[in-house]
Amino acid sequence: MTQDLYAVMGNPISHSKSPLIHNLFAQQTGESLEYTAIQCPMDDFPGTVRTFFERGGKGLNVTVPFKQTAYELVDRMTPGAEAAGAVNTLFQDADGQLCGENTDGLGLVQDLTVNQGLDLSGKRILVLGAGGAVRGVLRPLLGQKPAEIVIANRTVEKAEALASLFSNDIPVRGCGFADVTEPFDLTINGTSASLQGDLPPLDAGIIAAHTVSYDMMYGPDLTPFNRWAREHGAQRVIDGLGMLVEQAAEAFACWRGVRPETAPVMAQLRDRVG
Ligand code: ATR
Repeated sequence: MTQDLYAVMGNPISHSKSPLIHNLFAQQTGESLEYTAIQCPMDDFPGTVRTFFERGGKGLNVTVPFKQTAYELVDRMTPGAEAAGAVNTLFQDADGQLCGENTDGLGLVQDLTVNQGLDLSGKRILVLGAGGAVRGVLRPLLGQKPAEIVIANRTVEKAEALASLFSNDIPVRGCGFADVTEPFDLTINGTSASLQGDLPPLDAGIIAAHTVSYDMMYGPDLTPFNRWAREHGAQRVIDGLGMLVEQAAEAFACWRGVRPETAPVMAQLRDRVG
């Protein structure tokens, strides 16, 4: 019997942990599928997606730098993908229409609320960064009914534009790093500064003894942001490995109708990451 075929597409792609995660999910749930990584040419994401589905592929994950292109390509999408302005999960419906979902924000919220046991309702949340990664998580965060979300970014106009897009009955405010000096309940680093081993210029006043610090990045060592937060007395520091596994579980559930258990997969990944 041929197995259902899934893949992650990106460029570059060799570093992706998605094949490992999804193959562990398949083993655990007994689902018969194969999941591979496809390096997509920079100039032909639409053609590569089309060929994949024409050859019988069942579903795709999309990663850097194609999430916005995927958003533009789909025939229809979920409200979550619409709000995120990006798509990380593709599949076809019964009529062959290309459908898009975004599971990144769902993965973050699942990690925060279920794995980490945090109640975000009524909390003050600071989000650092105003790029695609941050836009992708704002709607699910707002769904947890925090008291407010402040978006601080190096380029202030981008934070303000994002804030005005999402501000509704829950206030969302955009500003620069220097404008935030008071403590928050939860700080989330969604900048790509860690990739360069960099730290946004932050005032230590944002961290208090009750502050939980979350970095969407992960690695064998503390990220620069979480190291800084710990040095300034944060109650807990959490990296983005849980978000990675949870967004994958959401995609798996979207395709297969079965949500795998994430804890054992996270433990296996943690062993490998360090
Ligand atoms: P992603 O999809 O990862 O969000 P992006 O859309 O390019 O990538 O956004 C990167 C984010 O990280 C932006 O908020 C960027 O700030 P600017 O909007 O001012 O460019 C932020 N960023 C990148 N490098 C940074 C650094 N060294 N210090 C602070 N912020 C940084």
